[in-house]
Amino acid sequence: MTDTTTPGTGANASTDAPAKAWSGRFTEPVSDLVKRYTASVPFDQRMARQDIRGSLAHAKMLAKQGIIGAQDLADIERGMAQIAGEIERGEFAWNLDDEDVHLNIEKRLTALVGDAGKRLHTGRSRNDQVATDIRLWLRDAIDQILALIAEFQAKLLEVAETHAGTPMPGFTHLQVAQPVTFGHHLMAYYEMSRRDAERFADCRKRVNRLPLGAAALAGTNYPIDREFVASELGFDEVCFNSLDAVSDRDFAIEFCAAAALLMTHLSRLSEELILWMSPRVGFIDLADRFCTGSSIMPQKKNPDVPELVRGKTGRVNGSLIALLTLMKGQPLAYNKDNQEDKEPLFDTADTVIDTLRIYADMITGIRVKAEAMRGALSQGYATATDLADYLVKKGLPFRDAHEAVALAVRAADVKGCDLPQFSLDELRIAMAHVPGAAERLGTDIFAVLTVEGSLASRKHVGGTAPEQVRAAIARARADRGG
Ligand code: ARG
Repeated sequence: MTDTTTPGTGANASTDAPAKAWSGRFTEPVSDLVKRYTASVPFDQRMARQDIRGSLAHAKMLAKQGIIGAQDLADIERGMAQIAGEIERGEFAWNLDDEDVHLNIEKRLTALVGDAGKRLHTGRSRNDQVATDIRLWLRDAIDQILALIAEFQAKLLEVAETHAGTPMPGFTHLQVAQPVTFGHHLMAYYEMSRRDAERFADCRKRVNRLPLGAAALAGTNYPIDREFVASELGFDEVCFNSLDAVSDRDFAIEFCAAAALLMTHLSRLSEELILWMSPRVGFIDLADRFCTGSSIMPQKKNPDVPELVRGKTGRVNGSLIALLTLMKGQPLAYNKDNQEDKEPLFDTADTVIDTLRIYADMITGIRVKAEAMRGALSQGYATATDLADYLVKKGLPFRDAHEAVALAVRAADVKGCDLPQFSLDELRIAMAHVPGAAERLGTDIFAVLTVEGSLASRKHVGGTAPEQVRAAIARARADRGG
């Protein structure tokens, strides 16, 4: 299947101006500009496979219900098999005169099998047909995205495991706050991706309902069997209101919202990779295959891929707003506005799929510079809170302990050293103004002030102690089924 076929060329292109499927009522043809403006075939041909699948289920139901004959069904099946092959091989002649994917395929079917092709649209409208196609298409896209999230997670867990005990500064306000491990930091992104997967899986439930049978908007007077079509197409249930079935695109909006959140998470990770890779920070290096050079500055190695992930998040957010805006003013039921749902939707799925694919690889292309991370931990008093907590455990009220440590930090600033470099006496002198602080300090404070001591002490569920990071990884693997 190809997106690049030029409409109007190829074996079955019509040479005479063909009659449109609905042209009987009209006295003049549309201009070329209007034709191009109203046609969706250049982009909705991506749903051809789903369109054929939906039509085959519909035809099977029509035959089962005696609405069309068994021979009609056989003809439709034969014609559709040929059309599917033509599309697969890039031989199908998409024609702008036939407006959209639905009319293009129906017209070709009629050319191939005659009257049976003309009977296919019995009890159906393009309104319920297109809604069905989009849902089938989106269901496939969600399944692909869920598989790719799982792949990304597997890689993330590998790297997190390697660095479950690698210390780095944790930041708040981009200022050194407290020691964490790099594995713990990566596991934060694992948790985000877990919620992303949940959102897509949940959205899939509402995507997976069958609009077909709603016809144009009011249902149909043929004795159709919607449950049969739903089960043929793997839908969990039918849409229960015909007006709603053909008109709402909330499921597509939900998908775009889930996509916007996923991209937002990956954009944050990208921003961190970019920052960490800056020589000013130097926490990581990124494999060359994700970077490019500069055409003027020979020394440059730029993190283009994460920068583009961050940039592409903008277009995904834009698509969400586009679909919300598309929907908000539409009276029931179907309006042609809805044709505009496809490009943002397709673009969103494409962007998410490519981004996840790249990320699964990129995450293993991170080279951690553990010395630089540790070096950064010795600037910024990362264990100051541990010192305060020590005093609290020895009986000093927390506010007093906070004040005592603030004085010690000020003294360290003046001396130009980090807290662990003070002698016990120096620490006591620095805290002298806070009654009860100095006498509570003992030599055991130096174990508390080390990075390892600080990390190991945060050993509850969700904490950064290496043993807890390993437990989080094991829990994640068990959740994912190994
Ligand atoms: N191409 C149209 C769309 O994408 C199909 C439905 C058209 N229905 C109609 N009554 N014009 O929405």
